[in-house]
Amino acid sequence: MSCRGAEKRVALVKGDGVGPEVIDGALVVLEAAGAELEFVPVELGYSRWKRTGKAMAEEDIDLIKDCHSVLFGAITTPPDPNYKSVLLSLRKGLDLYANIRPFRTRDLDFVIVRENTEGMYSGVEKLDEEEATTLRVITLRGSLRIAERACAIASKRQKLTIVHKSNVLKSDTLFLRICGETARRWDVPFDDMLVDAAAYNLVINPKRFDVIVTTNLFGDILSDEAAGIIGGLGLCPSANLGDKYALFEPIHGSAPDIAGRGVANPIGAIRSAAMMLEWFGEAGKAKIIEEAVEWALAQGITTPDLGGSCSTKDVAEAISKRLAWLD
Ligand code: IPM
Ligand code: MN
Repeated sequence: MSCRGAEKRVALVKGDGVGPEVIDGALVVLEAAGAELEFVPVELGYSRWKRTGKAMAEEDIDLIKDCHSVLFGAITTPPDPNYKSVLLSLRKGLDLYANIRPFRTRDLDFVIVRENTEGMYSGVEKLDEEEATTLRVITLRGSLRIAERACAIASKRQKLTIVHKSNVLKSDTLFLRICGETARRWDVPFDDMLVDAAAYNLVINPKRFDVIVTTNLFGDILSDEAAGIIGGLGLCPSANLGDKYALFEPIHGSAPDIAGRGVANPIGAIRSAAMMLEWFGEAGKAKIIEEAVEWALAQGITTPDLGGSCSTKDVAEAISKRLAWLD
């Protein structure tokens, strides 16, 4: 995951709800890590919709394309029947086809590689009075490029598990075949598993997994399950990668119920920022941030979602101070 030599201009989409709080936490840590980045604030989402009647405009994509990556907080869905998800529009508009979701604790370490542009999220849909349909589009090109990403990651780790439902879905026979062929070509050890069995095994025996590659909706669901297994959504980062652009975001949403109280867990956002640094070719800085996060967790410097009594700011500041030690 890298984009060495690129100019480091980052579109900053703090978003709504807890988005601004957790992103501010990530910014404090990036600063402490000595990251040299130029931020371009872009207001998208519910607050923008309230102000202008639109959550995002066409020009925003162009503005973002002038940057090399996006650091994204979270967005609340506006109460608008015509609302199109900002996040999904960014994934499509920037062709961010690989959603990389690492799950790490003291004794678990696996990655879900989720196809991010097609499958049940193809957008080919029809809603009538009597019938509604969503077309699950799986393409050779889409499967091949996500399989390549997954194999690149698995080749540096232990093995790949292809998660699918090919006993029922014809679309997944294509996905399974392409992923299998790609893994063979990469000479990456691999197996495959039906998605229902994978959901079960993630709970029963998560250690059996190393790198999972799967289609869009299965990856969405399994990644929330995985977050629950490692201790909570607040801990989990993600990287949405294309060939040209990248967007980094915590997996959690805007959590309006706790927004504005300063208690949201910033770790998902901080780890997302670390993934961004890695993508920018700053693996060393990414690693020390990750170490400082692990240190804070081990010390019990945590927000209430993890049983602690620290604020978002306390956690971000403790991690920042620790960076000076690790540097
Ligand atoms: C995620 C989210 C999104 C998704 C929503 C907000 C559209 O759940 O990033 O996992 O379904 O992909
Ligand atoms: Mn999700």
